[in-house]
Amino acid sequence: MDSISFSSLSPYYHLIFTALAFIASSVVFLLSRKSKSKVVNLPPGPPGWPVVGNLFQVARSGKPFFQYVRDLLPKYGPIFTLRMGTRTMIIISSAELAYEALIEKGQVFSSRPRENPTRTIFSCDKFTVNAAVYGPVWRSLRRNMVQGMLSTSRLREFRDVRDVAMDKLVARLKSEAEANNGAVWVLSNARFAVFCILLSMCFGVEMDEKMIEKIDQMMKTVLITVDPRIDDFLPILSPFFPKQRKRVTEVRKEQIEGLVPLIEKRRAVLKNPGLEPNSVSFSYLDTLFDLKIEGRKSGPTTAEIVTLCSEFVNGGTDTTGTAIEWAIARMIENPDIQSRLYDEIRSTVGDRKVNERDAEKMVYLNAVVKELLRKHPPTYFSLTHAVIEPAKLAGYDIPTDTNVEFFLPGISDDPKLWTNPEKFNPDRFITGGEDADITGVKGVKMMPFGVGRRICPGLGMATTHVNLMIARMVQEFEWSAYPENSKVDFSEKLEFTVVMKNTLRAKVEPRV
Ligand code: HEM
Repeated sequence: MDSISFSSLSPYYHLIFTALAFIASSVVFLLSRKSKSKVVNLPPGPPGWPVVGNLFQVARSGKPFFQYVRDLLPKYGPIFTLRMGTRTMIIISSAELAYEALIEKGQVFSSRPRENPTRTIFSCDKFTVNAAVYGPVWRSLRRNMVQGMLSTSRLREFRDVRDVAMDKLVARLKSEAEANNGAVWVLSNARFAVFCILLSMCFGVEMDEKMIEKIDQMMKTVLITVDPRIDDFLPILSPFFPKQRKRVTEVRKEQIEGLVPLIEKRRAVLKNPGLEPNSVSFSYLDTLFDLKIEGRKSGPTTAEIVTLCSEFVNGGTDTTGTAIEWAIARMIENPDIQSRLYDEIRSTVGDRKVNERDAEKMVYLNAVVKELLRKHPPTYFSLTHAVIEPAKLAGYDIPTDTNVEFFLPGISDDPKLWTNPEKFNPDRFITGGEDADITGVKGVKMMPFGVGRRICPGLGMATTHVNLMIARMVQEFEWSAYPENSKVDFSEKLEFTVVMKNTLRAKVEPRV
């Protein structure tokens, strides 16, 4: 999801652009000083340079953005400002302020800021659920995604797809382990399993593994391409990035060319079901073919359909895969948690294969997953919010053109809300009396899916996937460290989501 990484900028790169930006922006600053009249009372924040603000401090710190922010919390508290070139960011990291903004003042705080030029191209000018401003287009798209695909009854219809994907996951892990002395890569396998489910739900047509891998590769290229560049924060520098801008157009073309055949295939299957008797009876694409959008005469264009499908598949792939990687890491670190989970599975289903209905009922599994999402929210920031009109929060001004960011670990690691927040302890939700409403309606204590009007519409599906995958993976295998007896390294790194810095490789022992 939305991430800020300056990893691609080498120190050499920094120097050139620091100098250029400083000269150029100082000129702009001097020219624009006269026109500034109204004083806006923004939250405090670290002092920056004229116009470029804190941009180069962040870039040169060498830290991932989430770490930079985490390090500022003790000094600047639950609401502070970072000026990133022409973008002003207000970072919120307390439960009270998140509740006030997203629940109490949700009507005002539920929009999205303007996009940078790259994202404008890939989002078809904000024609996606996640990027649309708060208004009729967003309402139409979100309603369609939720009612068409993500409601409880719709979700049920895709049980078979999930079952097949889980069987394939187990088979892949088994053969990878056999070929590698018992060792398997966790993230890539989990990611691939969920990707297959989402592709099938989205396009409804059969694909072989080669095709799936090709689409996966293309989607990853898109994610890399939309990663913010320095000229997104300082548009004055955009003439220095002609190659990158050309690349954006090429990648968008590749994305359209890659997905249009799937769209056409589904159209053909809908007209003539005999073409593919095994295809799923219903898909996200089907809802888009005849979608009515408030305030628009025509339905989505083919380019817009490509964008909406990509959103559906991307929204749930890396996020879910990341959650599974951290889950297995925690299970290896805490063998007692793993065996309690295994015992719960055994006592619930005996020798039969655990399914998602069983998983829903398992108290301990649900506590493990909740603790997982508290301790390791797959994204450390919710998607960027914006206000629809000038607003106030904690006595400060929130102007319309600012990026309002919610730093999630600031809430879920807050010692005022949690006992020993650093400890991974699922029991806090069972015997510890520390419940938390993940939707935030009854109060915010953790918000891995955001809260309020923009809460992740995939919450139900995502928890189904995470619960089911963990249950199957623990039922089939005993997980331990690889190399044997090594300690799991819990360092994090930003890669669209916050994944393990050293990608987890684990040892699996089939249970039977
Ligand atoms: C563990 C898995 C997932 C996590 C942790 C997650 C997390 C999030 C977060 C933090 C947001 C931002 C909320 C905000 O703006 O305040 C979000 C939004 C969104 N998510 Fe998810 N998500 C997950 C899975 C999914 C899945 C499976 C889908 C759909 C297939 C999905 C689709 C979306 C969409 C469309 C939005 C934008 C909502 C809007 O702007 O109205 N997500 N998600």
